[in-house]
Amino acid sequence: MSTSERTREHLLEVYRRKAKHYDLISQLSPVPGYPQHAQRLRAIRALGLRAGDLVVDLACGTGLNFPLLEQAIGPDGRIVGVDLTDAMLARARSRVAAGGWGNVGLVQADAADYVFPDGVDVILSTYALTQVPECGRVVAQGAAALSRGRRWVVLDLKLPDATPGWVSRFGIAAVGTSASLDEWIDRRPWETIRSAMQDSLSDASWTELCFGTAFLAVGSGRGDVRVQDARHPRKVPRGLDVDASMGWNDDVIDTFRTSKGTENYWGPKLIVLHSIGAKSGEIHLNPVVGFRTDGGWRVVASKGGAPENPAWYHNLRVNPTFEIEALVDGDVVTVHVTATEITGDEWRDAYDAIAAEEPQFGDYLEKTDRRIPVFQLTPVAG
Ligand SMILES: C[S@@+](CC[C@H](N)C(=O)[O-])C[C@H]1O[C@@H](n2cnc3c(N)ncnc32)[C@H](O)[C@@H]1O
Repeated sequence: MSTSERTREHLLEVYRRKAKHYDLISQLSPVPGYPQHAQRLRAIRALGLRAGDLVVDLACGTGLNFPLLEQAIGPDGRIVGVDLTDAMLARARSRVAAGGWGNVGLVQADAADYVFPDGVDVILSTYALTQVPECGRVVAQGAAALSRGRRWVVLDLKLPDATPGWVSRFGIAAVGTSASLDEWIDRRPWETIRSAMQDSLSDASWTELCFGTAFLAVGSGRGDVRVQDARHPRKVPRGLDVDASMGWNDDVIDTFRTSKGTENYWGPKLIVLHSIGAKSGEIHLNPVVGFRTDGGWRVVASKGGAPENPAWYHNLRVNPTFEIEALVDGDVVTVHVTATEITGDEWRDAYDAIAAEEPQFGDYLEKTDRRIPVFQLTPVAG
């Protein structure tokens, strides 16, 4: 049996044993209090997700990333979760059923052999890829299938650079994290991942997290190798600001309210418009990204770069005074606002600032001929 095969057998055994309590154990890993959730959110933000995206979550485990991915891609998107361990996938299946998500496919496969769907929009792997002996090859295979300009993101643990080997062994063994620890330390897979990302992607970036105990590696697809796969036809992207699926919007709003902006994809930037129907006069709830300014918030009628404005754009034009829910000092509060559309030369400056803060809004502008409207929401007495 080769070293790779031995590692794989060992990992299967370890994760079959851990699967049942993985969600709980992982909160305490690698040590209690480790900012794993914050790192996960950061990795998912780095994907630059859009509504309707096809996402591969490689070595997805029990699917801890799925709720955050779902919030960003919506019902028109699709997640493919790939993992080696049947027991971990069984847990992922339960999570998918509990979430009522009809757009998640689960595949049992070794990452080293997995054939990525051509034209995949984004690829994510969290706390897993360094365990795959062929991790460099896996990065390259993913990069070859990735759409041009879209992201491959790897978040994983590493050894801090200055740590002597014996300290690392002692420290990691003490918290019982890694499966084949000696092999992992000697192999230094994070270095392999770093150079594979530099070789196969554009704009590869590398950020050390938590005193060098973890890393976030991000790169963009060159899009020069593959063509779109007919198995995954592109769907019309729908932005976060679309009214289309109330079920999805409801989930996003619920998570925002209950977690106070800590568990939702856009975090504390999310706001909920209570726009008043232009024709019906009824209230519609629209979760959108609110860009803070000194005078309130700015919102963008992007509809994910669709050719037409979202329904709420017309509502704000006809009924510019309404309520929003927003996070203020850590609490979700209701604020009366009045909306003013930013026009003329000011629009360009406003949009540039928004795209600098959240680059995917720059992508939306490239997808449409529309001059995507931006509104200033200014608080008024209720
Ligand atoms: C620490 S868990 C991380 C799971 C998940 N990504 C997360 O963030 O919670 C590592 C996962 O990698 C999977 N794994 C390990 N080696 C693998 C391989 N060669 N191919 C696919 N999955 C693998 C394990 O089954 C396990 O579910």
